Amino acid sequence: MSVHKEVKKITTNTLQKMKAAGEKISMITAYDFSFAKIFDAAGIEIILVGDSASNVMAGHETTLPITLDQMIYHAQSVVRGIERCLVVVDMPFGTYQGNSKEALNSAIRIMKETGGHSVKLEGGVEVIESVKRIVSTGVPVMGHLGLTPQSIYKFGTYTVRAKEEEEAVKLKSDALALQEAGCFAIVLEKIPAVLAKEVSESLSIPTIGIGAGGNCDGQVLIMHDMLGINTEFKPRFLRQYLNMAEQITGAVQRYIKDVKSSDFPSDKEQY
Ligand code: KIV
Repeated sequence: MSVHKEVKKITTNTLQKMKAAGEKISMITAYDFSFAKIFDAAGIEIILVGDSASNVMAGHETTLPITLDQMIYHAQSVVRGIERCLVVVDMPFGTYQGNSKEALNSAIRIMKETGGHSVKLEGGVEVIESVKRIVSTGVPVMGHLGLTPQSIYKFGTYTVRAKEEEEAVKLKSDALALQEAGCFAIVLEKIPAVLAKEVSESLSIPTIGIGAGGNCDGQVLIMHDMLGINTEFKPRFLRQYLNMAEQITGAVQRYIKDVKSSDFPSDKEQY
């Protein structure tokens, strides 16, 4: 039997075993109780309470404005919906970059107040002291390299990262440093597939790719993109599994029509 089917609850240990067995890891974002419940029951291994909530839930242009309190609210809702998967909670911009004490305090708030199982933060050597300090308290940390959306104003664009040798070399040493510091997995976002393959093969911890090709140990997509709720975002790496915006529009239009024509509620739909 496959590793992920054997266990009652997915842990960082399960993910490690999955990598060793060559079993791919599935991860999706969620921000609320109802979707988390559906994704968990569907068999997903990891739910990421992403700071992409800033975009898809709050309508901001970037992930920068979301606060720790808001992330905690989303994570609490997600945790109430799940039974089996591992919940990773993004540490929002400005809650871990200052110093490792601040990072630890933010991680502790997330763990204590949400019931989530781990945290994720963006960056390499710049955040290594924070990673070490959080890990030393027993909190699992997921890293995030490549296109790190909290640095969008430094990058200036959401295009593919680490195409040039210098950035690729830094990414490889950052990945090793994060592994050394105790990260249990690393997200690789929007980097060339060959680079992601090299990094994935060089690490003993799993890599989770988004726009990083098929040789990562797992994949992650933002739920609003893969379910077709957000239809304006169509990057090459995205596979859209549903067109929820179209389906919901049709359903709401039928409801409006039924209300206007007094077809709803019928005799059977009243007391
Ligand atoms: O915030 C998020 O949803 C993420 C994914 C893009 C990996 O970090």
